[in-house]
Amino acid sequence: MKPRILVTRATFGEVIDKLRGRFEVEDNQKEDRPLVGEELRRRLADKDGVLSTGSDRIDAAVLDAAPRLRAVCNNAVGYNNIDLAACSERGILATNTPAVLDDTTADTTWALLMAAARRITEAERWLRAGNWIEGWKHDRLLGQDVHHATLGIVGMGRIGQAIARRAKGFSMRVLYHNRSRCPKSVEKALGAKYASLEKLLKESDFISLNLPYSPEAHHLIGADELRLMKPTAVIVNAARGGVVDDAALIAALKERRIAAAGFDVFEGEPKFNPGFLELDNVVLVPHIGSATRATRMAMVELAVRNLTAALSGRRPPNLVNAEAWPKRRRA
Ligand code: DGY
Repeated sequence: MKPRILVTRATFGEVIDKLRGRFEVEDNQKEDRPLVGEELRRRLADKDGVLSTGSDRIDAAVLDAAPRLRAVCNNAVGYNNIDLAACSERGILATNTPAVLDDTTADTTWALLMAAARRITEAERWLRAGNWIEGWKHDRLLGQDVHHATLGIVGMGRIGQAIARRAKGFSMRVLYHNRSRCPKSVEKALGAKYASLEKLLKESDFISLNLPYSPEAHHLIGADELRLMKPTAVIVNAARGGVVDDAALIAALKERRIAAAGFDVFEGEPKFNPGFLELDNVVLVPHIGSATRATRMAMVELAVRNLTAALSGRRPPNLVNAEAWPKRRRA
């Protein structure tokens, strides 16, 4: 008998076809509706594996309803949607999709940074609204210069480093803050200097958040941190909702205590603080950091590799709870 799997959300048709060669697949291709609570528990009750997304809450109650479950393979690099301790206790392997989305997410971060700095979406709204009646005007929609400015990167993992590499093309000074300092050789190659969070917030013209969400990272940027920033500062979050206190950010943007923001992720998404919609000085996109066909394909292929390994008794390449391996559930 083939192992049974649930693919919680729609994915590329050819991926489902490939999965059907190895597994009995229950998919969500037609409706592509988020599966939550009782429905998720019911669908997982007889499954050996799940190919999940970063929006599926895989908590202890879900795991308890899935006595055969051996692997939770996230189609995302972030895995704060999975209760890792609960997986490990039960011998369930959890995996993610690192590396394949670094450059695409760095590109998106730059798109947000540039758009917020140069007021691109605000300018387009203004033009589309029929406001362009007079010709060129010397002070119309003035923004911030990106070139030769200081970029502060909070979280210097693979994505943070990809962002720093791009900053070279803009002749920027790069500061970074990270739990642990990068090796000197990496700092040198990136032209980046380590700084305390306080120094980075005070001195940066652009601040990019690139760290995973964890309870320690919750509201890392709140009212106090926003007060440290320059009135011309631009902040970009393509990491995770919850790293920023969105209500405090909205207040700072409204009072022009900072210049602008570019946000891809929000607290409580897909719902988000409606205060964002009242602001002109924020660029808002719906969690599209990794959204190119090539990257989304590479991510799901990696998730499939992880799932195939886990359900064949092999250690998956991107296991995030190594402690579960010795006591893994077997078929
Ligand atoms: C991730 O991979 O964690 C992204 O947020 C989903 O695109």
